[in-house]
Amino acid sequence: MYSKKVMDHFTTPRNVGEIEDADGIGEVGNPSCGDMMTIYIKVNDGILEDVKFKTFGCGAAIATSSMITEMAKGKTIEEARKITRDDVANELEGLPAVKMHCSNLAADALNSAIDDYIKKNKD
Ligand code: FES
Repeated sequence: MYSKKVMDHFTTPRNVGEIEDADGIGEVGNPSCGDMMTIYIKVNDGILEDVKFKTFGCGAAIATSSMITEMAKGKTIEEARKITRDDVANELEGLPAVKMHCSNLAADALNSAIDDYIKKNKD
């Protein structure tokens, strides 16, 4: 069964949408189910000042993306990089074992948005 927190983030997801002038965008797909997630980040002075997401996927994928945007906001790039799928699942008070793979998407999409930001700001 899903925890109350998962249900809360699934039914009223935070930070849904797109950042038009995003500094980094990460798009990932889950090959096992075909679900897709995009995370947008806005970076100011090394801090993630805004994070938004669009997820076409299951309830657990929506809840984990919503949660990771809340966890990442206000963090430095280095801190945000360290957020693992287990951190997200713990923050949501657990996910059913069969749904743990869904939390990969959120952590991977955030990392890929950070990679994109770094690539764009190399020089
Ligand atoms: Fe696809 Fe959850 S079943 S991400």
